[in-house]
Parts: sequence; structure tokens; C-alpha cells
Amino acid sequence: MVNRKKKKLRYGFIGAGGIAGTHLRDLSRRDDVELVAMADISETNMRGHQDRFDIPRTYSDWKEMLRVEALDAVSVCTPNRLHERAAIDAMKAGCDVLCEKPLAHSAKAGERMLTASRDLGRKLVIGFQYRFNPRTQFLRAATDDGQFGKILYTRVKALRRRGIPNWGVFGQKELQGGGPLIDIGVHVLEMAHYTMGSPEPVSASADMFTYIGNKPSNRVESAWKGWDYKTYTVEDLAVGRIRFENGAVVHIEAAFAAHIEKDDWDFQIMGEKGGATWDPPRIFRDQAGHMVDTSPGWLAEETFQGMFTRKMNNFVDHCLYETPTLAPAEDGLAVQRMLDALYRSAERGGKEVKV
Ligand SMILES: NC(=O)c1ccc[n+]([C@@H]2O[C@H](COP(=O)([O-])OP(=O)(O)OC[C@H]3O[C@@H](n4cnc5c(N)ncnc54)[C@H](O)[C@@H]3O)[C@@H](O)[C@H]2O)c1
Repeated sequence: MVNRKKKKLRYGFIGAGGIAGTHLRDLSRRDDVELVAMADISETNMRGHQDRFDIPRTYSDWKEMLRVEALDAVSVCTPNRLHERAAIDAMKAGCDVLCEKPLAHSAKAGERMLTASRDLGRKLVIGFQYRFNPRTQFLRAATDDGQFGKILYTRVKALRRRGIPNWGVFGQKELQGGGPLIDIGVHVLEMAHYTMGSPEPVSASADMFTYIGNKPSNRVESAWKGWDYKTYTVEDLAVGRIRFENGAVVHIEAAFAAHIEKDDWDFQIMGEKGGATWDPPRIFRDQAGHMVDTSPGWLAEETFQGMFTRKMNNFVDHCLYETPTLAPAEDGLAVQRMLDALYRSAERGGKEVKV
């Protein structure tokens, strides 16, 4: 239990690769957080962070770190397949957990994580930074304000023309649970679902295609070269549809590689009374006998690191001062169930399946 007056939040990492760096940058700026230790199987990955952020100890086994260090909180930043084990071990050791997105590699794993969190009385938060973006907050406020009326349809896009990750294990289905749908589609889907007021999903269908990632990257000029095509077992492009209990429908497109003009990262809401886009943030309604487009007079500029700053501060405040989390693990599980159903449908040739 954290002593809220005197003690700092003793913080550790399970997985210390790329995204751990963004967590560390924000945590290192707080004087109520003590960066204590990291656990990773890559000594090289840990060394970079250790030198930069002055972290006292590193471990090759997270269980040992959890046994020795008496941590209060942990960021789980491993490949998706390990989120479940790492988060549950950390909660068993008495830690609150910020788990990077997606919650897990499967909905069943996510359910076990939530059960552990409830049974052990530990906080479990999902690393959804996009809901901290002022655009998302603007659109969610518009939903709550009834600006869209009944939301009928939302179109979700997380599309890269050529952006297959050339680090980590993002092309390996076994370790990640999937490709662009679970890796980047998850971000825009969760923003859209949150903005829609988190309706209950009931069924889903999807088709997935692999045609570029399983071939060498040197055939075409692009910025992200050198992905491991030999171990590539995920989709390049996923196209899916989700139906909700309230009658709304989401259509999602996610791609690491697609023959399109340019990358596309957006969602578009269509409701009975109004609609909206996220990029740019705009609302479309009928007013005074005219079709009117509205954009906010001012919104805070948001960078990738800026969203992380809000996400990390929200987690630390939640742990230390019991302020509410904006990203409960329950929301991570809701999205995970949709992702699971989409992958299941694709395995069954696009047949509609229950969520
Ligand atoms: N929120 C975001 O925008 C965002 C962005 C990128 C990645 N992520 C998520 O963060 C996670 C990590 O992604 P990344 O880009 O940092 O990948 P990465 O490959 O850079 O880092 C993963 C780290 O996990 C370590 N690891 C692997 N097996 C381990 C084990 N058994 N024990 C301890 N450490 C182990 C690897 O050595 C590596 O250092 C993924 O779940 C990914 O989806 C989130």
C-alpha cells in the first residue's frame, strides 16, 4: 500500500523496448515517482534506458524483479502475447499495472487479467493514449451533448501505405495475436468506440489479406524498410464490420501496407442529427435551414508524446491519489472482444460471428 504523504511511487518496467522510452520520459519528470528497475530479456534494450533515465537496477527475469524490489506500479511493455502473464505476475506481487495496448493477444487472456485485477484488488489500466487527445475529448463531449442524436454508423481507418514495423515481433501472429488490426486499428477503434459512448458489440465479420509483408522489403523504396518477411504471419490489410446492441455499425479498415495515396488515421461518425470527423475535428449538422460545419475555436495542440504525458500522469495520479482513470482495463477488454471476433470471422472466411 502506498503511503500517500511520504512515499514515492516505486516504479518498474516489464519490457524495456521502444514504447517503454515514452513512458520513462514522462515518469522521469515527476518528483513523486521513483524509477526503480526494469526487466527485459535484452540487456542492450535496457542499457539505453538505464543510462538515460538513471535507473538503478535491471533484471533478465521479471519474476525476480517483482520478488526483490517491492514495487508499487509497473508498466507492461512486452510483445502482446506476454501482457497477460506479466500483468498478472505484477498484480500478484502487489503492483498496480499500466498495460500497453492491446490489453492482450486474445479476449480470454484479457478476461483473466481483469479477473486477477478484481480478485487481487489491484488497479489495471490500458495504455490507450488517443482518448487523451483533445480531439477525442471534443467529440466525446459532443456525443454526450446529443449533437449526433442516435449514432448509426462509424467508419474507422488506420491505414499505412507502407509502414510494416521493422523492429520487435509485430509480424508474428503467435506473439502479437495479429497484425495492423490489433496493433494500430486498436487505437482508432477504441477512440471511435469511446466517442460513440461505448455501445455493446454483438457480432462482427472481417476479411484479411497478406500480400506485401511476406515479401522482402527491398523491392520498393520506402521509409520503413527491413521488416522480417520470413517470419511474417499477420495480415497486411484487415477490413471488418461490427454490429452493436443499439443498432449502430462500425466499419474498420487497418493496414500496415496498402496501395493508397497516403496514410489515413481517422474516424467518421454519422448520426441521425449530426456527424463528425476526428481529423480534422469537425461536426456536421443542419442549422437554420442550412448544412453547417463546426470546428472548435481552440483545441490544445497534441503531439504523440503529449498524449503519452496525459496518459502517464493519469495513471500515476490514479495510483497515488485515487483520481479516476480515463482508460480502465474494462475498455481494453471491450475492444479486445471486438478484435477477437474480427480475427475469428476472418479465419471462417468472413462469416459473421458473435462477439
Ligand atoms: N501505445 C502505443 O502507441 C504503442 C506504441 C508502440 C508499441 N506499443 C505496445 O507496446 C508493446 C511493446 O512494443 P514496442 O514497440 O516497445 O516493442 P519492442 O520490441 O521495442 O519492445 C518489446 C520489449 O519486450 C522485451 N521482451 C520480449 N520478451 C520478453 C520477456 N520474456 N521478458 C521481458 N521482456 C521481454 C523485448 O526484448 C523488447 O525489449 C506492444 O504491446 C505494443 O503493442 C504501444
